[in-house]
Amino acid sequence: MHIKDRTFIISGGASGLGLATVRDLHSHGGYVAILDLNAENGAKVVSELGPRVMFFEVDVTSTPTIEAAVAGTAVWIKETNAALGGIIPAAGVGMPGKLIDRHNEPIPIERLDFVININLRGTLDLIRLALPLLSTNTPTKPDGERGVIVMVSSSAAFDGQPGQVAYAASKGAVRSLTLPLARDLAPLGIRAMTIAPSYFESNMTAQMSDKVRASLERVLEFPKRPGKGDDFALMVRQIIENVMMNGETIRLDGATRMPSKL
Ligand SMILES: NC(=O)c1ccc[n+]([C@@H]2O[C@H](COP(=O)([O-])OP(=O)(O)OC[C@H]3O[C@@H](n4cnc5c(N)ncnc54)[C@H](O)[C@@H]3O)[C@@H](O)[C@H]2O)c1
Repeated sequence: MHIKDRTFIISGGASGLGLATVRDLHSHGGYVAILDLNAENGAKVVSELGPRVMFFEVDVTSTPTIEAAVAGTAVWIKETNAALGGIIPAAGVGMPGKLIDRHNEPIPIERLDFVININLRGTLDLIRLALPLLSTNTPTKPDGERGVIVMVSSSAAFDGQPGQVAYAASKGAVRSLTLPLARDLAPLGIRAMTIAPSYFESNMTAQMSDKVRASLERVLEFPKRPGKGDDFALMVRQIIENVMMNGETIRLDGATRMPSKL
């Protein structure tokens, strides 16, 4: 899929890995619809990047807000003539917690719902609602491609750490649904891929304590640094441009495997 003069829908595009992807696709001539809870950051990105970026205030756990943003994107596409090229559901949260605490109390179900509803249900709901914009595209030559979906899993889908049961469940589900989604959409010429980053610089990881961050850095293989938004955005762009990438989850982790204890 070409990036220039195509529109991409990116949830979580107001911060971190999503924002790095917004900047990268924009710098390669793409149009970007950012769907995010954070309207203040969204407005800043629009005023910085200009008319090829549109912001929609969306909570990915609220179907009506996604529907409104997809409808708004459809109107925008009619104006720009830049057909939808891809969907990138990058909104995500981590909320660590063991299923029972040291006082033998079960975790509140709301904490599990919070993570699973944003990371898994929100991903599927956005894809479901935006798909009709991809499936009605004129197929591109030579393969008849209509679009691409790039989802975000995590190294926690492979080697989740203590306290990551809900997060690993949500990200493992995204990893698992990649192949059946690619199979379902193959007749339409739409690809589905997933990236599983390990430890990347972002707002999410900035909230960790210095101790946790230092321990994470000790287990890195090569390169011996956290991933950057640009590393992630490059992978998204490579997936968009390479039509043979389909139905797979790519670990983006510099060979690091997360240990049980840090
Ligand atoms: N940073 C890492 O080390 C890392 C590692 C593996 C996976 N990931 C995944 O990458 C994705 C991006 O994370 P990040 O590190 O850039 O975090 P981030 O906190 O910098 O950005 C997440 C964005 O998602 C938005 N968001 C959160 N809840 C939302 C909701 N309900 N509706 C709409 N938007 C919502 C936030 O407002 C924010 O703009 C997430 O799916 C995360 O799980 C991150």
